[in-house]
Amino acid sequence: MTHILSAVAWPYANGPRHIGHVAGFGVPSDVFSRHMRMAGHDVLMVSGTDEHGTPILVQAESEGVTPQELADRYNRVIVEDLTSLGLSYDLFTRTTTRNHYAVVQEMFRTVHKNGYMVEKSTMGAISPSTGRTLPDRFIEGTCPICGYDGARGDQCDNCGNQLDPIDLKNPRSRINGETPKFVESNHFFLDLPAFVDALSSWLEGRDGWRPNVLNFSRNLLDDVRPRAMTRDIDWGIPVPLEGWEDNPSKRLYVWFDAVIGYLSSSIEWSRRRGEPEAWRQWWTNPDARSYYFMGKDNITFHSQIWPAELLAYDGGGNRGGEPGPFGSLQLPTEVVSSEFLNVEGQKFSSSRGVVIYVRDMLARYQPDAFRYYVAAAGPENQDVDFTWEGFLRRTNDELVAGWGNLVNRTASMVHKNFGQIPTPGELADTDRDVLASTRKAFGDIGSLIESNRQRPAIAEAMRVVGDVNRYVSETEPWKLKTDPDRLATVLHTTTQAVSDCNTLLAPFLPHSAQAIHETLGGTGEFAPQPRIEEVTDLDDDSRHYPVITGDHDGGYRFPAWASSPVATGTPIPKPKPVFTKLDDSIVDEELERLREKA
Ligand code: MF3
Ligand code: ZN
Repeated sequence: MTHILSAVAWPYANGPRHIGHVAGFGVPSDVFSRHMRMAGHDVLMVSGTDEHGTPILVQAESEGVTPQELADRYNRVIVEDLTSLGLSYDLFTRTTTRNHYAVVQEMFRTVHKNGYMVEKSTMGAISPSTGRTLPDRFIEGTCPICGYDGARGDQCDNCGNQLDPIDLKNPRSRINGETPKFVESNHFFLDLPAFVDALSSWLEGRDGWRPNVLNFSRNLLDDVRPRAMTRDIDWGIPVPLEGWEDNPSKRLYVWFDAVIGYLSSSIEWSRRRGEPEAWRQWWTNPDARSYYFMGKDNITFHSQIWPAELLAYDGGGNRGGEPGPFGSLQLPTEVVSSEFLNVEGQKFSSSRGVVIYVRDMLARYQPDAFRYYVAAAGPENQDVDFTWEGFLRRTNDELVAGWGNLVNRTASMVHKNFGQIPTPGELADTDRDVLASTRKAFGDIGSLIESNRQRPAIAEAMRVVGDVNRYVSETEPWKLKTDPDRLATVLHTTTQAVSDCNTLLAPFLPHSAQAIHETLGGTGEFAPQPRIEEVTDLDDDSRHYPVITGDHDGGYRFPAWASSPVATGTPIPKPKPVFTKLDDSIVDEELERLREKA
């Protein structure tokens, strides 16, 4: 049993999240965490809303509210959506807690003390018409690396490279189109070149990573420059140094603070449990493993900036140093990144109305239908296109006709013929074969999920469901009325096989796994669900906010990732269908909705 940190990317609280976001960080992290808990590991799954930086400022300005009001509004929306999707966070918090501020400032102080935050004068952009500083994201231009014309001052979304606004060709303000003026300004730079050796050796031997993530991360090391960790902006965490702290227009860069959220939320979780040092089991314990889940536009920050911050805190760069009070913090075991989900052939864009919000998806469809689609057809190794036609087919042909139907006819036959799980007679070869197939799948699917190959994992689970369906067709229990012993054996075997499949699918489909558990006469919590709790800031009594939490391994009898024998004599009620079959008309309806938004 290992301590596993499941570190999930922090969504910006600047609007509701769309299905592309949760396909990238949400479903994959939850499938992984649920599986690891069932396999007996000690999982800590943390995240929260990312509430600083320009993305929040831009949207607050356009909605006419303060950045904090904006963050409060969307933090709540996001908390509700992620909970409805069944994402089993141990703690989903936010970056505007006092605890987070304190942890971030401590990280900065030690990194600075170790000599890896270098003060330099730079050229910052200002708006010539207003004289105000123009944050990176307000600047747009042509990417100097790939030539894409919609690159932002901080990053090019086309090639994924990080940029400085002054590098952009033909820079212009996104507010009014004017050409920014560049003036001198002092900033702290994280001395990334001091970590190239340490980062290269960390990336050696990571061959189990998804190949595109590993290649991208290794390529980043070809051109490493110091990177500014402060900004000319008034919304963010103050720089904890004399002369800076009280300067209202200098703040820590949002990405410096956001990635530290993984640590601060682990600490907040520990403090809330009344075991303030518990987080160390996942952070300073060399046997612990950590997995970071995100979309590909986040790779740079997780495979370079964050490990460099950790190394700098540890004194692990080429100028040495001493770890601060948190101790020697472990580098990520794996950066698990997804590619992009597009929608009906286009890139998601809230501003152009090319968007399907999580909320709308869940208002109309079952959370597990969406989770199934993402697991089976999501952007694991390449960009993929979400289409409503594809969603309809996956739901109706695979989930409803394949899996749901098997559950339903099994429970119906058991209910009609025996009213309870019957006692089997002697097993025939065909019975043993189908049970061998479901049992073997625990090892196969478990190792696929552990190595973050979820598409082949769910494909294998559905292949096993196919084996069980074939077993039922071949043994034809409906023709065994005159042979009650054989009927009992076949239906007992089928019930056992369905129960095994349900366990195998539980990390992917937790809502239906609970319902199917009950359909098969099970009681208690089988696939625990997250809940929303209203809490008070640990260091500020006047502040309250919602968090996602849960007792995520409360209900398991271990080993939970294994075939668990069904109990003869368990009453089986008349089943209700678990999955909803979709009408073909939803495709046109949804396409019409997309057109209306555009
Ligand atoms: N808010 C960022 C985004 O949506 C992700 C931040 S992940 C973090 O792209 F961990 F660094 F916070
Ligand atoms: Zn580019």
